[in-house]
Amino acid sequence: MSFGARIRILAVLVSQLTHAPAFAEDPGRVLFDESECGSCHEFPLAPGQPVVPLRGLTSRFTAESLAAFLLAPPLPMPPFPELSEPERLTLARYLLADFP
Ligand code: HEC
Repeated sequence: MSFGARIRILAVLVSQLTHAPAFAEDPGRVLFDESECGSCHEFPLAPGQPVVPLRGLTSRFTAESLAAFLLAPPLPMPPFPELSEPERLTLARYLLADFP
């Protein structure tokens, strides 16, 4: 289970204990977590595994060009054929907002 998925489960458990609403999440962030992008871009899968930080994306990508990048990224990044075009656009908009 990804780190993000664990955090979401924890947030739901805490909200049930405290009767507070769980925080609403950006749908692009949910796709990021479900696709486990963070295992290469935020938190290493194993100690010592290199992380490729995402930064400066707005100077090089638009939402459309980033969505196209995700369809056919350069090796060693894997492609994500399971993501639909609308999902890739949602993910791209999230990336531009969170890793400008
Ligand atoms: C197995 C590791 C791995 C996974 C998983 C992965 N990436 Fe990457 N990603 C890379 C590597 C390595 C590069 C650098 C490729 C290069 O330019 O040589 C990269 C590059 C990128 C870039 C371009 C960064 C730049 O500054 O040009 C973006 C954006 C990106 N990844 C987003 C994602 C997203 C979104 C996901 C999940 C859908 C994801 N990656 C999943 C390894 C990964």
